[in-house]
Amino acid sequence: MKKIISIAFAIALSVVQTVQDDGSHQANSNESQKSTTSEVEVAKLKKDPLYPFISKQNKLVERDGTAYIENEANLLILANKDYLMQSTYIPSDLVRPNVEFSFGNADIEKAKMRKAAGDALEAMFKGAKDAGYELYAVSGYRSYSRQEEVYEAEVSAKGKEKAGEAVAVPGTSEHQTGLAMDMSSKSADLALSAAFGETAEGTWAKENAHKYGFILRYPAGKEKITKYEYEAWHFRYVGKEAATIIYKNNWTLEEFFEHVKLLDDKLKKAEKA
Ligand code: DAL
Ligand code: ZN
Repeated sequence: MKKIISIAFAIALSVVQTVQDDGSHQANSNESQKSTTSEVEVAKLKKDPLYPFISKQNKLVERDGTAYIENEANLLILANKDYLMQSTYIPSDLVRPNVEFSFGNADIEKAKMRKAAGDALEAMFKGAKDAGYELYAVSGYRSYSRQEEVYEAEVSAKGKEKAGEAVAVPGTSEHQTGLAMDMSSKSADLALSAAFGETAEGTWAKENAHKYGFILRYPAGKEKITKYEYEAWHFRYVGKEAATIIYKNNWTLEEFFEHVKLLDDKLKKAEKA
């Protein structure tokens, strides 16, 4: 009898053991399934066309309640009313692109752009010419001190509030990045005007700039996002990949980086899971 009881006990114990084993096996397989799921998710997120731009986001440092950009030489820099450059920032690779300028051959600061942007501008102007359109470069790089002069003149002419819709406060202008070019055409009297956007040259630029790495930076209808009035003439170099994504999605650079940030957040979450 004693033996029977102990056998029964042993059987009962082994049943408990089996249940426990099953239970822990279940837990293990859940664990590995979970990690596989998040690995799949991470791999999927890394295939997103925005993935390469996660490392191109502004790196910010806050001083006196102002957000300064630390990686100013980043070709994807997002300079705007919220994110500033140091007054001392001067790009190290400014060149004079070989294109037609509205002011001829004068050797002046605004004829310059950063090398990558200048090369892309030459390709774009050639592309325009091949399509039968003649573009003119009007204003490229602008130092912090030149932006101060331009801004002060605008404030004197229009008052502070109105000035800020058209001209950037020093430290916030894309012209200081060396990656922007204002352009026009003879059909728009070489002026920086909304009329340029209506010309064949302005229309060509708007629809083709992305193929060369440029975006129309302050489009009509996006004033609330860019915080600037429509500028038919202001083109910004961001590289072909980003420019094409921005063009196809009808985004601004602000919207592009909002989406990059969303992807960055999702990826961080999936990597932690
Ligand atoms: N006109 C543009 C916004 C600038 O001043 O940079
Ligand atoms: Zn401009």
